Amino acid sequence: MNQQEIKEEIRRLVKERNALLMAHNYQRDEIQEIADITGDSLALSMEAARTDKDVIVFCGVHFMAESAHILSPEKIVLLPRPDAGCPMADMVTAEGLRQMKAKHPGATVVTYVNSTAAVKAESDICCTSSNAVNVVRSLEADEVILVPDRNLGRYIAKHTDKTCHFWEGYCPTHDRLKPEEINRAQQENPGALFMAHPECAPEILDLADHICSTSGMYEYARKSPAKKFIVGTEAGILYRLRKENPEKEFILPSARLICPNMKLTSLEDVLKSLQTMSPEITVPKDIREKAKATLDRMLAVPRD
Ligand code: 13P
Ligand code: SF4
Repeated sequence: MNQQEIKEEIRRLVKERNALLMAHNYQRDEIQEIADITGDSLALSMEAARTDKDVIVFCGVHFMAESAHILSPEKIVLLPRPDAGCPMADMVTAEGLRQMKAKHPGATVVTYVNSTAAVKAESDICCTSSNAVNVVRSLEADEVILVPDRNLGRYIAKHTDKTCHFWEGYCPTHDRLKPEEINRAQQENPGALFMAHPECAPEILDLADHICSTSGMYEYARKSPAKKFIVGTEAGILYRLRKENPEKEFILPSARLICPNMKLTSLEDVLKSLQTMSPEITVPKDIREKAKATLDRMLAVPRD
């Protein structure tokens, strides 16, 4: 089968299986092109919970498919590449977090959605890159433990007055962006605005005109009168940025802004997954219920 035939067969099977095909904003262009819906990690999981389809095909990484199952356990959640993990999510374990909690018994644990279900189950509340500051400000506690991303943690600490304890995890893709690369892109593109994901290092965020989640970048690019943007996140985001804003220019400051895990899923994998109805991602009931409570507490925080 050629690429076009594979795409058509995927769409036929999506219908036959009564499935919803979801793609994270970092997926390969051809996957985003045929998806029913693209979005950031939390928006996709929430959409999975809302849909009346029986099957969710989640083109993303493992923790995202877990979140979809936590929020909608009655549905079949397929992850076409079960080996697509998130190295940052895997930098903290439930046991490691229990040890940190024992050191700071009065602290509230705020866990980034980029984490395993077992870690969420051990936490008090979740946050995403778009609501992290708001979530932490909403807490009564003066002391918080922030896991697993040290960069998001330091960004939160800068914008709240809480005492923060950080887990020293990081996203290998965002953390390797260097200030020199931003400086060079800015010199080559005078007047371009720099938007950065909070997973970038503090010295990168200091250079940003706007700091936001992947979905926040679409909104910022759409609303801004600027014509050129330097994009401080994973390369996959360029597909929709360019499609939705054909008159604007988007510059990736580093060729290394690629998450190998996000790029694992191919059209062939999606086709095979729909044909075999596997691999299915499930979270055991006890962990799922605790993790859901952690996500629900976040969803109850009013947006600013
Ligand atoms: P978003 O929640 O902004 O989609 O980010 C997920 C992610 O993996 C960022 O690296
Ligand atoms: Fe994880 Fe970073 Fe890849 Fe996002 S870009 S999935 S945080 S490794």
